[in-house]
Amino acid sequence: MKYPDTKLPKVGTTIFTLMSKLAAEKGAINLSQGFPDFDGPEALRERVGHYIARGANQYSPMTGAPGLRQAIADKVKYHYGAEICPEQEVTVTSGASEAIFAAITAVVSAGDEVIVFDPAYDCYEPAIELSGGRAVHLQLQPPAFSIDWQQLTAAISDRTRMIILNSPHNPTGAVLSAEDLDRLAALLADSDILLLGDEVYEHIVFDGAPHQSLLRHPQLRGRSFVVSSFGKTYHTTGWKVGYCCAPPQLSAELRKVHQYLTFCTTTPMQLALADYMAQDPEYGDHLPGFYQQKRDLFCQLMAHSRFRFTPATGTYFQLMDYSAISDLPDTEFCQWLVDSAGVAAIPVSVFCETPPQSRLVRFCFAKDDATLRAAAEKLCQL
Ligand SMILES: Cc1ncc(COP(=O)(O)O)c(C=O)c1O
Repeated sequence: MKYPDTKLPKVGTTIFTLMSKLAAEKGAINLSQGFPDFDGPEALRERVGHYIARGANQYSPMTGAPGLRQAIADKVKYHYGAEICPEQEVTVTSGASEAIFAAITAVVSAGDEVIVFDPAYDCYEPAIELSGGRAVHLQLQPPAFSIDWQQLTAAISDRTRMIILNSPHNPTGAVLSAEDLDRLAALLADSDILLLGDEVYEHIVFDGAPHQSLLRHPQLRGRSFVVSSFGKTYHTTGWKVGYCCAPPQLSAELRKVHQYLTFCTTTPMQLALADYMAQDPEYGDHLPGFYQQKRDLFCQLMAHSRFRFTPATGTYFQLMDYSAISDLPDTEFCQWLVDSAGVAAIPVSVFCETPPQSRLVRFCFAKDDATLRAAAEKLCQL
């Protein structure tokens, strides 16, 4: 038989899978894939065990456990001052990945354009292409990786259906400011362009800055899918529980996709998260300090290396320029790094349509201090 042509010719196995596999094979310290090497809160994990033992093992409601949707609405009010309806505006999903796929698929049609900013997280474009749309790639401008507003204004056309914003930004660690949101609101005021806010690192913003969620902004909120991930917030990436907040009309469309994509998400995790959030509503206030200590430790240790960097302003990633160490392109450099230093990183070019001129790699510092010290010691010898 003749198998069909691939619908995603540009897609192979992701670099995250490849680098984690290489790191495991070579016994390297894995600062590549974005997951913590420590556990989430014990009380939260125990609550999952409690619910499994108590028989909470069947499907949850399609839109998410009611208690968790209420906890999300309470959290949005607490952090961003926005009143959202847990019944109509909150949908619990199988990780932020599912929310992103469902949001794009729900509203992007053949011929639509979706603006993404490079370096861009890798799951946006496949969803756009499977919907028959086209990703229009704009470059974030180094060194601060900010939006070029002239370029964005010029890129908007009557085919633009959506703009995807990721703040705090993976892989650069950049964050959007309140002025950015005001500027965006002014730019979009007379249009029907939708926004997808990928805010999975919403609680990892440093140096006392508040996270500028699209949910804070009254004009932008009405046109936005805002996506987050409990995996990032509670150090439980393997649970794959996330959510999407969107106005009722957009949530209704997202749910049409979600109900056939996964229908619902793991029940005991949802119930445990709801309890834990109610018990510790200020948890998100403590996370920036926790990760800032790790960023500062990693940056202090790496100050003795030949890597050059500006400390990240958000996320648990740190970009580093290796041009003083090697002329290799970044993917080859990352392979060399595993062999020569025993440390795995992610090349930034995999997040870009056009390979960048700069020589940058991404390190994940969501690791125990001992892991960061061991990695930095190796990297400082290069
Ligand atoms: C920017 C960004 N968006 C979305 C996701 C996916 O989150 P989840 O694991 O909850 O699906 C990640 C995970 O690394 C991410 O970094």
